[in-house]
Amino acid sequence: MPTPLLTASVTVWCAAPGATGAAGWLSRDEGLRAATFRHEEDRRRFVTGRALVRAALGERLGVDPADVTIRRGRRDGASPGRPFVEGAPSFSIAHAGGWVLVAVVGTVTSSRGVAGDATSDGDPDLAAGVDVGVDVESTAPARDHLRDLLDAVPPEEVPVGGWDAVTFTRSWVRREAVLKAVGTGLLAPRDDLLLSRADRPAAVVRSGGALPAADRLAVSDVGLPEGTPRATGSVVRGGPDDGTSSLAAVALCAPHHPPALGTVTLCAGSTLLARHGAGATARLGLP
Ligand SMILES: CC(C)(COP(=O)(O)OP(=O)(O)OC[C@H]1O[C@@H](n2cnc3c(N)ncnc32)[C@H](O)[C@@H]1OP(=O)(O)O)[C@@H](O)C(=O)NCCC(=O)NCCS
Repeated sequence: MPTPLLTASVTVWCAAPGATGAAGWLSRDEGLRAATFRHEEDRRRFVTGRALVRAALGERLGVDPADVTIRRGRRDGASPGRPFVEGAPSFSIAHAGGWVLVAVVGTVTSSRGVAGDATSDGDPDLAAGVDVGVDVESTAPARDHLRDLLDAVPPEEVPVGGWDAVTFTRSWVRREAVLKAVGTGLLAPRDDLLLSRADRPAAVVRSGGALPAADRLAVSDVGLPEGTPRATGSVVRGGPDDGTSSLAAVALCAPHHPPALGTVTLCAGSTLLARHGAGATARLGLP
């Protein structure tokens, strides 16, 4: 009998940095870490990411955001660094420029892979076996440092016509999303993961080393709303004046079953935070 395919929906909460009122939700360790950032913008991005996690998972668990305990390390203790919340679905944080993204696994359904025979609907035990990763990057670093970055991605991912800032950034966010879902982050050697060419739809082509097999991974591009979120209010249409844009990707890792991305829903983090009195950060034209 074939191993059932797990299809997971993912919610991606999007916000601008600056969750007013959420600093009080931070744990002691998070507060200490927040105090170490040299740049105020980095501190705001960190606090907003943690606030979105606390608000989203607090709602899922039925507890106050301040009572959500975020730990680091994998649930099986295998990998340092990865944040998780005991008893809650997998989540992932990414921040870059004006964007803070938090992806959370939603409903997970299992299919035998033949004739769409769904055997389970929204089973929490299945959800526990699926980890999510998300990444967002501005194209500005690739534009400014492309020559220095070329070795960071396998040559097989180079699009027809060669790299430019957009295609390189697309490959990069796909890669980081997958490696966050796995939990190694960028500690994984470059050539242990080969993704589809940057000008083709996102897919995992090959994986090796300590990474799960390619059929235990899934990746998809995420289209962010046009414009740049601002902490003070509405989206600034048309993106930054310098012609750069921000790209994002989301990935799944399910060590025991082949995973597939179901619906990926972008939601306004400002609405989520406002529900908990943490202040609106930006209106992004999202539900
Ligand atoms: C994880 C990593 C890919 C993040 O990339 P980045 O571009 O610096 O930052 P991003 O904004 O995209 O992502 C940051 C988030 O990644 C998450 N993260 C960190 N380590 C992670 C890991 N091993 N697996 C999954 N997610 C991880 C964190 O939630 C972090 O946000 P937070 O600090 O606000 O909680 C990168 O830092 C990395 O690979 N680091 C080395 C590997 C590692 O895990 N080191 C931890 C040593 S304790």
